[in-house]
This record gives sequence, C-alpha cells and structure tokens, in this order.
Amino acid sequence: MIKQKEKIIFEVSNLKKYYPVRKKFFSRQKQYAKSVDGVSFAIKENSILGLVGESGCGKSTIGKTILGLTSPTGGKVTFRDKIIFDVENNISISNGEMTKLRSEMQIIFQDPYASLDPSKSVGQIVSEGIKKHKIVSKDKVEEKTREMLELCGLDATSIFKYPHEFSGGQRQRIGIARALAMNPKFIVCDEPTAALDVSIQSQILNLMLDLKDKFGLTYLFISHNFSVVKSFCDEIAVMYLGQIVEKGEADEVYNNPKHPYTKALISSVPIQHPGEEKERIILKGSMPSAVDIPSGCRFHTRCPYKTERCMNETPTWKTLDNETGVACHLY
Ligand SMILES: Nc1ncnc2c1ncn2[C@@H]1O[C@H](COP(=O)(O)OP(=O)(O)OP(=O)(O)O)[C@@H](O)[C@H]1O
Ligand SMILES: [Mg+2]
Repeated sequence: MIKQKEKIIFEVSNLKKYYPVRKKFFSRQKQYAKSVDGVSFAIKENSILGLVGESGCGKSTIGKTILGLTSPTGGKVTFRDKIIFDVENNISISNGEMTKLRSEMQIIFQDPYASLDPSKSVGQIVSEGIKKHKIVSKDKVEEKTREMLELCGLDATSIFKYPHEFSGGQRQRIGIARALAMNPKFIVCDEPTAALDVSIQSQILNLMLDLKDKFGLTYLFISHNFSVVKSFCDEIAVMYLGQIVEKGEADEVYNNPKHPYTKALISSVPIQHPGEEKERIILKGSMPSAVDIPSGCRFHTRCPYKTERCMNETPTWKTLDNETGVACHLY
C-alpha cells in the first residue's frame, strides 16, 4: 500500500519520443512514429509502478528514454531531484554525471537469452559493471560477483559457467545479479518474466520482491500481462498508443477500472475465483499505427462507448478519487 507523502524518486513530465519513418522507401517526405506522446508519471521511492498495455504502445520506448538510452523528443525527467533532461529548456545532464548516475539506474530485459553475451562467462558478465563503475576495489570484485549470484539464488561457482549452461529462469537470475551488482536505486524491468514458464515467473517475481525490500529498490515494471501487474505492483499506469489513459493504485485500477481500454484489458484476464464479476469488453481490431494516430480520443476507433465528441475532441486528464486519474470523455 502506498502511504501519502512518500518521496518521489523518479519524475517524468510530458515525455515524447518520435521516431522518423519514411512513408515510402524512396520518399523524402518525413513522417514520425509518435511512440511516446506526452507521458507523465512519478514513482515513489521503494514502490513498484506497473506500465501495462498492448504490444507496440510504447512501454519499452519509455523505459529506454527515461534511462537516457535513446534521445528524447520532448519532456523532462528527474531522478532523485537531478534533472536527467529537460528538452524544452535545453537542459541535459553532463556525460560525466550521467556515468555516475548510470549505475544507480539499471534495466532488466525480457529476453534472458539475447541479453547475455554467450561468449562471456557468468563471472565476466556480472563483474563487468562492477569493474567499470569501480563499485568495489579490484581485490573484492570476485567476492562481490559471487555474493550477487548467491543473492539471486545461483550457486557462486556459476561464475565459471557460460549462459548456455543455464535454464531460462536461471539466466534471468544472472541478468538480475548483473543489475544488482551496480548497487542500483531504480530498475526498469522490461517484461522480465514474459519469456518464462508460469511457475518460473512467480519465482523470479518473488526474488525481485525480496531484493526490493532488502535493498530499498524502486521498480518501473513493464508488462502486457494485467494479472502479473496487478499482483506485483503498487500502482498501475495503463498505456494506449503512446499515452497513459488511466493511472492509480493497483487494487483500485483492477477492481474499479474507469477507462474502457482498462476494462477491456482486465476482461482478458481469466477470472481468479468463482463469483467474481467483471464487465466484459472484447476489443475489435488492433491498435492503430503510431504513424497514423486517430483524431480526438485515440482509442475511439475501438471503443464500444464512443460518441461524436470522442472522434473530434482529445480528452484531458482528470484526477478522481484515490489518486486515480483517467483520460476519457465519460468522466
Ligand atoms: N527504433 C525505432 N524506430 C522506429 N520506430 C520504433 C523504434 N522503436 C520502436 N518503434 C515503434 O514505437 C512503437 C512503440 O514501440 P515499443 O517497443 O516501445 O512498444 P512496447 O509497448 O514495448 O511493445 P512490446 O509489448 O511489443 O514490447 C511501435 O510502434 C514501434 O514500432
Ligand atoms: Mg517492449
């Protein structure tokens, strides 16, 4: 549960990321995929914010942009009161300062197969960042590496092995150990369990919860799976086509969804216990392209409740009870 007046560790305002795309192969005409189009949120220290939405809605782009792994088109991001960038005011953190902060902000990826270099031993993979950022003195690197692996549920002798010698779940533990070795404060977890079996998924999520409590970590947890987000996160932000359409405490968003898109996502979650009642909304079609965003409310092309107004007028953000906010003309 989130208590009032908790410290904000990460703040994002009006973040935009547009990718240039060509309409036709030989065309000089420039067009943009508006992958992230005016997103704002804040994450409280030692809490988990879940970012949920269909494939292609811009979740990973948010993760990469706020960590400075790709350049932003607009907006401002602050981490522990330090401005990482403020595009409109031409401010961006110096390279030197970013290098220092880099260790405090880590990312864990979806694919534990692709994100670990197969030619390096686990010891090399986990110790790389420890050495680069001089997390401990040279003679303590191996000890720190072993300690991180053990904390993540792996045998310390794993340092001599290579990624192919591990299962998917174990590889994800290596990825977590690598991130944890940097003494991070904040971790973007980009679908960290999506590639794993359900039973392994919960082991990894439990590990992440333990580590969060032990080290006072804060997570941005990206997922397209509402049931995972609901059980794992303190707050949920629901994304559709580059924007957040609803945000609030996890229980509130799940049990009392406001936006028709949130209701539709929850509709697709299997019922957890008999007698549970849910409004069923089955979405038609697929999400439009980020290059061709519909007018008005960008969800109107799929919304069962759309009116004339939804087709012409963009809904503004409204804050409701229990810190819930929604962008929909129905409210
Ligand atoms: N480098 C790029 N160049 C052009 N367009 C891109 C680039 N990266 C992402 N996009 C586009 O931005 C949009 C958002 O992509 P993103 O990867 O952030 O989605 P996502 O929500 O993480 O999806 P998924 O659940 O499939 O991982 C998509 O339309 C994608 O095609
Ligand atoms: Mg993604």
